[in-house]
Amino acid sequence: MRRGQTLTISTTSTATNYGIQISPGALGLTAQWARHCLRRRAKKIVVVSNRKVFGLYGALVMNSLAEAGFDATTFFMGDGERYKTVRTAESALRAFSHAGLSRTDAVVALGGGVVGDLAGFAAAIYLRGISFLQVPTTLLAMVDSSVGGKTGVNSEFGKNLVGAFHQPSGVLIDPAVLSTLPPRELTAGFCEMIKQGAVGGRALLKKTADFLSLYNMSSFRMHRDDKEFRSLIAGLIAEHVRFKAGIVRGDERESAGKTGPRSRKILNFGHTLAHALEKVTNYRYLRHGEAVGYGVLFAAEVSKSLALCGEKDVKLLYDVVHSVGPLPPLAGIGVKELFRAFSFDKKNISGSLQMVLLRGIGRPVIVSDRDLPAYHLNKVLASCLRKWA
Ligand code: NAD
Ligand code: GLY
Repeated sequence: MRRGQTLTISTTSTATNYGIQISPGALGLTAQWARHCLRRRAKKIVVVSNRKVFGLYGALVMNSLAEAGFDATTFFMGDGERYKTVRTAESALRAFSHAGLSRTDAVVALGGGVVGDLAGFAAAIYLRGISFLQVPTTLLAMVDSSVGGKTGVNSEFGKNLVGAFHQPSGVLIDPAVLSTLPPRELTAGFCEMIKQGAVGGRALLKKTADFLSLYNMSSFRMHRDDKEFRSLIAGLIAEHVRFKAGIVRGDERESAGKTGPRSRKILNFGHTLAHALEKVTNYRYLRHGEAVGYGVLFAAEVSKSLALCGEKDVKLLYDVVHSVGPLPPLAGIGVKELFRAFSFDKKNISGSLQMVLLRGIGRPVIVSDRDLPAYHLNKVLASCLRKWA
């Protein structure tokens, strides 16, 4: 596994480090990576995936695992956010048990953020926690969800509100698999990258914007074998992972008391509106990343309306979000229902909603709704919804 880049993330909870390997073509070396991350102990592996992703990359992964002597079996979940549930997690646990996974064995999550969150959660609670490896196959999962150990499922209370912090033993990122990802999913991934750039700093946002000025979402397949493209996308993914790993290192469990500009909460920039949009549309209409795209713009507008952030930075965010392709229109979604959905996020934080705003690019600030009058949020939201209908 010497090609590409390896980043290391350290965790405080288990006092261990895990590696994040990023290299085009890495998927064929899954077993070597698994052996490296799991050392000698693991014999059995359950690969959690869905039929679409497994149809594309499952054979490569299973052959690699079998050649290295792992006893590997599969568990398939449904494809889509609506399958990220306790019920699916229960079926996964049943599959782990049928496969005879013991405490020294492992789970491999092969798929996007939905598969990764579900598989990680099931691994976190099976036998009170067994190892798992993330093999993210969407851009969003590569730059965000596979790193940092947040696992979980959706429930009637809201999105991701049932879960566990459970760090993977390793993350294997093969950017070549992005060539089969539909443009809409790439747009969703870039929206999360814009979010990370907005809170991470001008350099990260600029790198992302520069890449977007060279390549559009429908050109990924075409550039699959282009050396420069491969190196640029792998480098960009690595920059984002490095940024996220740095934040997680300092605040692994998103401590309630930490509210500074390097607290993990800043990664929730854009998520107040995003989670509400997903909830009111039953997790079916918008991709998570698309909802984050709108959420970033809303948070920027709120920041501007409070005179925290200047017009120039807000315009910059609009320009970058627009460059990733069209977001589905929000016609028919009302301010009232979104406000009701905000209250589900409130339950997380002692009855007050905490919103991440910007004092400028790379200068996040966490503001409680006690300092954000509802009529004010209401006005900004109504004006945004008119624009985005
Ligand atoms: P997803 O997992 O639903 O994947 C998107 C679609 O792409 C699916 O239909 C999937 O089957 C398909 N797909 C995956 N890889 C493919 C490939 N290489 N080629 C072709 N098709 C492919 O969506 P996502 O955007 O990856 O993840 C969203 C989820 O991630 C949400 O549930 C969100 O809450 C979660 N999330 C978690 C964290 C975290 O820190 N744990 C962070 C951000 C988002
Ligand atoms: N995606 C937000 C976090 O990992 O904290």
